[in-house]
Amino acid sequence: MRTGATDRALAYTGAPVRLNELFDVVFRWAHLIAGIMWIGNSMLFNWLDRNLEHHGRLSPLSQGKIFMVHSGAFYDVEKKLLEPGELPTTLHWFKWQNGFTWMTGIALLVIVYYGNGAAFLVDVNVCALDPVVAITASASSLFIGWVVYDGLWRTVGERNPRAATVASVAMLFGAIYGFTQMFSGRAAYIQTGVLIGTIMTGNVWLCILPSQRSLIAATEAGRPQDPVLSLRAKQRSIHNNYLTFPLLFMMLSNHFPSAYGHHLSWLVLICVMIGGAGVRYFMNIRYRGEGRQMLAIAWLTPAAMMAAIAVGGLVLITRVSAAPDVDVTYPVGFARAQEIIVKRCVPCHSTHPTDPVFPAPPNNVVFEAPDQIKLMVPRIRERAIESKDRRRRAAAVASRDR
Ligand code: HEC
Repeated sequence: MRTGATDRALAYTGAPVRLNELFDVVFRWAHLIAGIMWIGNSMLFNWLDRNLEHHGRLSPLSQGKIFMVHSGAFYDVEKKLLEPGELPTTLHWFKWQNGFTWMTGIALLVIVYYGNGAAFLVDVNVCALDPVVAITASASSLFIGWVVYDGLWRTVGERNPRAATVASVAMLFGAIYGFTQMFSGRAAYIQTGVLIGTIMTGNVWLCILPSQRSLIAATEAGRPQDPVLSLRAKQRSIHNNYLTFPLLFMMLSNHFPSAYGHHLSWLVLICVMIGGAGVRYFMNIRYRGEGRQMLAIAWLTPAAMMAAIAVGGLVLITRVSAAPDVDVTYPVGFARAQEIIVKRCVPCHSTHPTDPVFPAPPNNVVFEAPDQIKLMVPRIRERAIESKDRRRRAAAVASRDR
């Protein structure tokens, strides 16, 4: 069986393009662009709302004005409700930035974590899930997460937002813990990110956009907007606002094996979430009405403390342990190291890998010549000794194949 798979892998290496890698880079690039546009827009609108000025002569329907300078001229912006006859023919919505971020994100989840035989999703040392079971669990938890969250906020949340907040935070932390017990560390972080991104997208398309549509309908009919829809939209956009910073950390987290590979990775993620949402909170409250800034010290200090909580969690775990937990006390010569590398690493890290999952050397890292090994000494130390996650995953992939 091993030979058959290897033959396939070698045949695949001969293909003109590495499809998986091509899809990965295209969708990652698109995801980043769409994400910058979405989060950038949403931060700009948040900033606008907080900086609106209310003095001067404003019409009764006005909610404030603001002047800005950018791109070679002045912008004179007013936030207001409209009279029935005032609705313009062209109205810009800003919904596809979010739509594309979510769609490309789901595509990446499939390409990176569900593809490659779910090699990045499953870690047998965490939980020996069958790839199909793991993929099903990952996908269905997104759906269930949204249904439970949305149901909670449509019922309890509209009467008692405080109770719903406590329940939501508890469930989210529970989900983080659950994911770290089911999936590989790296996948658990991304899975949490996709769950949050899915909830944010559901909020946009199923709560905020319907509320905007009802606002337009109400304006056309010359009646006030349905208060339930507008309250719901307000609640959900506050949620999205707080989830932004933690989500961005999760999107970057696959670069930080010491965070997701830590044995308390769920606790690290919870610290970073609290810190990230906290920084956002103090950024939110730094403007009082009419665009007046609070004293910098009054919002900057607590915001910095929140950042310290997030970074503190990371510092704690990224420190290098004095004694690496390997039980070798004598010096190991190069020849012996190379022997180990040929046995353990070269199946993937060679010009023509024999590992069926990776048809090309991962990250283009090849350990065939002594110089190639010597060049990578610090990274080898990091991957093979300091961060156990990598060792575990490599072992998992190898054992599954046998
Ligand atoms: C089952 C296949 C597999 C085996 C075996 C394997 N690796 Fe890797 N390695 C990967 C993959 C996939 C990546 C790129 C993705 C990533 O960074 O996780 C990678 C990336 C790397 C990198 C580059 C990224 C970085 O962190 O600097 C180094 C160095 C590395 N591996 C070292 C090793 C060493 C040392 C061994 C042997 C002890 C080894 N690998 C065994 C699959 C493997």
